[in-house]
Amino acid sequence: MKDIYTLGIESSCDETAVSVVKNGREILSNVVNTQIPIHTLYGGVVPEIASRNHINNISLVTKMAIQNANIHFEDIDIVACTYGPGLVGALLVGLSYGKALSFALNKPLVGVNHIEGHIAANYITYQELKPPFLCIMMSGGNTQIVYVKDYTDFEVLGRTKDDAIGEAFDKVARVIGLGYPGGPKIDKLAEKGVSNIELPKTHVEGLDFSFSGIKTAVINLQHKEPDINKENLCASFQKAITEMLMEKVKAAIEKTNMKKIVLAGGVSANSYIRKEFEELQNQGIDVYMPDMKLCTDNAAMIASAGYYDYMAGKVDDLALNAVPNLKLD
Ligand code: KG4
Repeated sequence: MKDIYTLGIESSCDETAVSVVKNGREILSNVVNTQIPIHTLYGGVVPEIASRNHINNISLVTKMAIQNANIHFEDIDIVACTYGPGLVGALLVGLSYGKALSFALNKPLVGVNHIEGHIAANYITYQELKPPFLCIMMSGGNTQIVYVKDYTDFEVLGRTKDDAIGEAFDKVARVIGLGYPGGPKIDKLAEKGVSNIELPKTHVEGLDFSFSGIKTAVINLQHKEPDINKENLCASFQKAITEMLMEKVKAAIEKTNMKKIVLAGGVSANSYIRKEFEELQNQGIDVYMPDMKLCTDNAAMIASAGYYDYMAGKVDDLALNAVPNLKLD
């Protein structure tokens, strides 16, 4: 069978990323231009600045992706672009660029759900991985437990009612003065602390989550006691939020009787969370964790998801628009 080359484009937040993936699983190139140093100055992502930087970077990042893959534009079979969820102005840059490429090359355009992309990051890390499985999606914008029935068939079993888990990490980090993005900084500081501070854990019905209560509790504590030991605060917050997460993960395993778990999204890089999932592994659950560099936003995961969408018959036309609050199911 002829090899299929998918060009993936990702611009939903603060990474301009383009990648070429062969047959949905093999990375030929994976270029990521991150704007983190720019947004750090403001303590978080500024949407208008993100869009402008995507515009500045997208052509060069695409050329590099083609060059690194050692192919020509004409070799591309599918153009896969993130069209949601994300920041509308940021999404529109990658999507418009992808539409133009698809039109110029006369190759099919496939709009990809960013969350589906995060799930697909695992197909690249684990060549043998196939649905069905449970995916625990944890990023800066989303937290959900997804029953992945097939490559393009998803049922969301539970989702956050308020903040995403990464958002809670980032907001806590900002208030205690660690800067953006906060997740990795809390992770690092927590290693040096002990979890000796009691924090309230919100309980929500079913498999849904709520992380805003614990976030606010940490922020209030920091305001009330400015000299509080930051290392212990980070360790306590990280432990408590992980316990809230794991309670629902275990309930989802029980509910579905599915013993294959796949992690996705930036927060799956957290060392404490990864340890908890390793613990599950010792209890007979198969746990798949994406390669660290594929946990955070990249376009290889978009190319992989786009390949499977295309194989399932999905093709979009040039009327495709960005959908900032796009859902998975
Ligand atoms: O998936 P991602 O790159 O972007 C989207 O939100 O789509 O995830 C970014 C999030 C940020 O909130 C960041 O703080 C968090 O992932 N993150 C972490 C860690 N590394 C990244 N959170 C906790 N611990 C980490 N080690």
